[in-house]
Amino acid sequence: MQILVTGGLGFIGSHTVVELQEAGHDVVIIDDCSNASEEVLDRITAITGKRPAFEKMDLRDRTAVESFFKAYPEVCGVIHFAASKAVGESVEQPLKYYENNLSSLVYLLQQLVKKEQAHFIFSSSCTVYGQADEMPITEQAPVKPAESPYGNTKQIGEEIIRDTCRVQDNFRAIALRYFNPIGAHPSTEIGELPIGVPQNLVPFITQTAAGLRKELSVFGNDYPTPDGTCIRDYIHVVDLAKAHVVALERLLQEKQQGNYEVFNIGTGTGSSVLEVIQSFERVSGKKLNYKIVGRRPGDITTAYADTSKANNVLGWKAKSTLDEAMKSAWQWEQKIRRVTT
Ligand code: UD1
Repeated sequence: MQILVTGGLGFIGSHTVVELQEAGHDVVIIDDCSNASEEVLDRITAITGKRPAFEKMDLRDRTAVESFFKAYPEVCGVIHFAASKAVGESVEQPLKYYENNLSSLVYLLQQLVKKEQAHFIFSSSCTVYGQADEMPITEQAPVKPAESPYGNTKQIGEEIIRDTCRVQDNFRAIALRYFNPIGAHPSTEIGELPIGVPQNLVPFITQTAAGLRKELSVFGNDYPTPDGTCIRDYIHVVDLAKAHVVALERLLQEKQQGNYEVFNIGTGTGSSVLEVIQSFERVSGKKLNYKIVGRRPGDITTAYADTSKANNVLGWKAKSTLDEAMKSAWQWEQKIRRVTT
């Protein structure tokens, strides 16, 4: 049996391929390289000693997806990362997001349900909760109307999978709702490589410290939190990658209750923007240049996970601290920018 990882050259995808291979799984990657480089294959090979199979392909091409499943009959499990993920861009170009993120999902499912047994893991996001009424956020918290087309594709994606599970006894799926993934592999072979100006906090911090950006803008210090800045649950990408392996193994071992489940994947601890900056300064020994500016439209105040379902049911728990994750993010940035101090 082979496991297909779509978007397997991207940030979370590449870390997951490493963990899958290290757990003994046979992996094939599909990536269109629109937001990732083929060189990542060499880096995965350097870490694991094994080169995964690779097909450069656009999943919006239904015929190509069908041909792929004919060429790889051993594929019975899919971890589906391939998607566009820039919130702002999704507001500007909603149809691009609905096409990229949803047509590819439908085409994959159409092929998978033809199998005798099929297993599917979906990259979802804590964005589905919006500003939840209670912290920490459990999986029972209501899904709120999406703030952006990107967020909507995650909600609709979950619904498409749930509806498919309802009518397909041979199909089992898990949606993982990620909180904020950060950090890089300890080998510094793979990490986050945002194109252009980073929208997310941690790559902006490390790029500022590496001299690529003048200063970090902290979006608002007048939120109702202890230091006035927003709170998020930052999870080390290696911990997140390992969650996919245990979720997949749960599917393969048919341990599921029902054939569709949802799990929050975070650390369970909330950190403010200023705490993230302090953590960076602690682990790097560098002062970060930052200024407080106005709020960013669309930001919620606080989001952190109740991870007890993942802990108890999957037997998975995030291990890395914020400092460890920030240190790995900085080591990665230093390596790719050749920063020596
Ligand atoms: C964002 C996405 C979310 C996605 C997640 C992936 C939005 C609205 N949401 O979440 O859908 O799943 O990334 O990781 O974009 N911040 C600054 N200065 C910066 C950048 C960020 O102060 O230059 C602050 C933000 O205001 C926020 C925190 O840092 O409070 C984290 O921001 P970010 O990394 O963009 O993640 P989210 O907005 O939580």
